[in-house]
Amino acid sequence: MTDLAAEAGALIDLTQVAFTAPGSRLLVMAGADGWLQVSSSQYEKCFEECLRLARLGVVDADGRPLPVTSVLPHRIEFGGGVATLCLAGESLSLGGATGLEAAYRTSSGTSGRLPLGEGCRLSWPVEELRMAAEPAHADDLERARAEWEAWFDRCPRVRADLQPMAAFCWWVLGANTLQLAGVPDTRAVVPSRLGYVAAWQWDSYFIAVGLRHGDPALAREQLSLVLRFPSPDGQLPDVVHDFGVLASSDDLPAADVARLRETGSMAEGVRVPLTKPPLTAWAISKVYETEPDPSWLDSLLPTVAASQEWWFDASDSDGDGLPEYAHPYSSGLDDSPVFDGVLPVATPELAAYLIGQDELLADLLAERDLAAAARCRKRADRTVDRLLELWDAETGVFRAKAAGQWVAADTVLGLLPLFTGRLPARIVNGLLATLDDPARYATAWPVPTVSQADPSFDPDRMWRGPVWLCINRLLVEGLLASGEPERARDLAERTLAMVIAGGGPQEYYNPHTAAKPPRAVTMFSWSAALYLDLAVSVSANEGSGR
Ligand code: GLC
Repeated sequence: MTDLAAEAGALIDLTQVAFTAPGSRLLVMAGADGWLQVSSSQYEKCFEECLRLARLGVVDADGRPLPVTSVLPHRIEFGGGVATLCLAGESLSLGGATGLEAAYRTSSGTSGRLPLGEGCRLSWPVEELRMAAEPAHADDLERARAEWEAWFDRCPRVRADLQPMAAFCWWVLGANTLQLAGVPDTRAVVPSRLGYVAAWQWDSYFIAVGLRHGDPALAREQLSLVLRFPSPDGQLPDVVHDFGVLASSDDLPAADVARLRETGSMAEGVRVPLTKPPLTAWAISKVYETEPDPSWLDSLLPTVAASQEWWFDASDSDGDGLPEYAHPYSSGLDDSPVFDGVLPVATPELAAYLIGQDELLADLLAERDLAAAARCRKRADRTVDRLLELWDAETGVFRAKAAGQWVAADTVLGLLPLFTGRLPARIVNGLLATLDDPARYATAWPVPTVSQADPSFDPDRMWRGPVWLCINRLLVEGLLASGEPERARDLAERTLAMVIAGGGPQEYYNPHTAAKPPRAVTMFSWSAALYLDLAVSVSANEGSGR
């Protein structure tokens, strides 16, 4: 195995990070009793709910379990190498020295043993466990090794101090790749096998932006997948999953409805469309810049243009030219205090994304449809004017508005209009001062999603304080677009250092300690992808990247 695979393997601890393989749904982790456990990744179900083997291990002739002695992406090794386990599709493949046995207990309590020797397989084509002595373990092991090696051959090469974590992030993207039941012709890189098993629209945008550095074809596939099921009026669904799409509040899983009810959210019980922020053209352009594919671009442009119209036509309830989020989930910032009160809410970063999308569409449409391009450009100018009305010089942030009233919450959404690169110098300076304020946004590990001075700030609660890589990545781009390359570089470096300090691509990070908050999931694809994207960009600046 290559150094990169070994580096990635060092972080597959079987406790926070599961052993798995591209295309398989199986997950192997260590149980509390020291034995392994085997589960399957499923939409909206946790590890315990999908448990297949409550216990799995390799035992010697006296029934004593052998310890796991090393993990590489393609195999788990027991007893210093006398036995190994790998995945072969939806089967577990084990092999080892004569006299050793695989010992298991299913989730329903059936126990058994199977001699290892040249190989045995445990598989689940149905709910019943099937076991077979199959002298093919060496072949399974070789296939698994070759598959991962091909994946690591594509791993982006970055600055030496960033490379080990880059290898692990690249592994995370490979490990999170699977096929959704309804779209078997496409590979979906899901947000995390340990929590989010489906294609979430804006996750796929960030994932594609990272994937493009090693596998542009897979990056394109992610974008095609989430643009495949628009509604007749142009709205894109929030999620594409095994059983269909999540496109309105009627499609929400029961657990989400219960959570909204519990928190007293205004979004509970109202039927509204569910989507994600309009960063579609942004992601497409990034992937296209890396490897142009004109027919792919042509296949997606009409869908992007229609979704942009949808925001202005169907998601601007008061018709003031500032579209709104009718549901917190559509913003991607589900729990942000911006949505604690009245809905819908017109937020400043939504206007900024729409300005960016209209400008990119105008560029992309210039050679195809001049009139449409001119319409987009004009609307971008108009939206800039409307956005500037949300600037609050006193607090040094852009504010959100709901039902004609200012929303009090002081959140990072108020800083994101930097992304447009179209703000006057006095406003840019005001935003920089806010970013630098230690009482608000200048935390040890910036940038918190809510100001520390806001009463709702909580360093561990999702979108109410923790740092998220997507926000930092957009701020890095915003600082660059606003003529602040030094600050952009500094934030990129601090974000990379945070991922390393936090032990890997977590869903989000505590802004004081860089630690993973208790409820944040691990193996998070967009953090992995954006780590890679930032690492490539800072390495390229030094002439050592590719
Ligand atoms: C959470 C996040 C949302 C993300 C989804 C999948 O719901 O709030 O932004 O798209 O998880 O990762």
